[in-house]
Amino acid sequence: MEVRLAKTAGFCFGVKRAVDTVYKQVEDNSTQQIYTYGPIIHNEEVIKDMESKGITVLRSERELDAIENGVVIIRSHGVSRHIYVKLEAKGITCIDATCPFVKKIHQIVEIQKGEGRRIVIIGNAAHPEVEGIKGWAGNDAVVVGSAEEVGRLAFPENEKICIVAQTTFHYKKFEELVEIIRKKRYDIIVLNTICNATKERQTEAKRIAEGAEAMIVIGDKHSSNTQKLFEICNNACKNTYYIQTLKDLDLNQLGSVTTVGITAGASTPKNIIEEVQNNVRINF
Ligand code: F3S
Repeated sequence: MEVRLAKTAGFCFGVKRAVDTVYKQVEDNSTQQIYTYGPIIHNEEVIKDMESKGITVLRSERELDAIENGVVIIRSHGVSRHIYVKLEAKGITCIDATCPFVKKIHQIVEIQKGEGRRIVIIGNAAHPEVEGIKGWAGNDAVVVGSAEEVGRLAFPENEKICIVAQTTFHYKKFEELVEIIRKKRYDIIVLNTICNATKERQTEAKRIAEGAEAMIVIGDKHSSNTQKLFEICNNACKNTYYIQTLKDLDLNQLGSVTTVGITAGASTPKNIIEEVQNNVRINF
């Protein structure tokens, strides 16, 4: 019985950095109330653990408005410029755990906007990362996520445009949408800001699932990147299971297999992955 664990399973660099920042604050700061602006990751177990250590999740800007002091940690998705302004005006300490790759996009759109370009963000408008980017891109920035939305763009000819992407956007789809915009006779600059972490995780998961008799995908049920990972693995290996923690895994279901692959979404903590891996090893 061989267990193949994906090297890319679990936290990406930016998520790990944000989670570590929170726990470091818990250790270093016992005098002030610590808040995170939004849940730091999509994982109920981790959020519960943080709450048990006294962290409060601010779930909206209104909740942020209601606090008067303390420490606010910005998660890896980043936030709009006006949130920093608001924190400063209130005299609240801000610990910025925005992923450096997302921060880079904020800088790009700010500079390009300053140079007179309209910013077009390719991504999901409702995603917090995209809302944050938009908040650095000027009032005339637009977000598009589908061919229909791109088709509706109607700027004047030769309009100066800078195109960026949500870090987790699908690479092929980004290229397709850029191609549609290219045909519109604007003056465009394209900056592919997609992060490789997601792509690498998906490629490795597919490779492992193709060679395994059973595949386990670990992640929160609300995590969209885990759902996508499950879809990819399930296409490559019909004996694929989506679990949140070891509790959801019925080892009998796996049947008598000789190779089991394991991967996990970007918000799955290492201890949960290790627990599953060790249990599968022991029981076969
Ligand atoms: Fe950062 Fe890429 Fe993760 S942008 S948060 S390292 S998916």
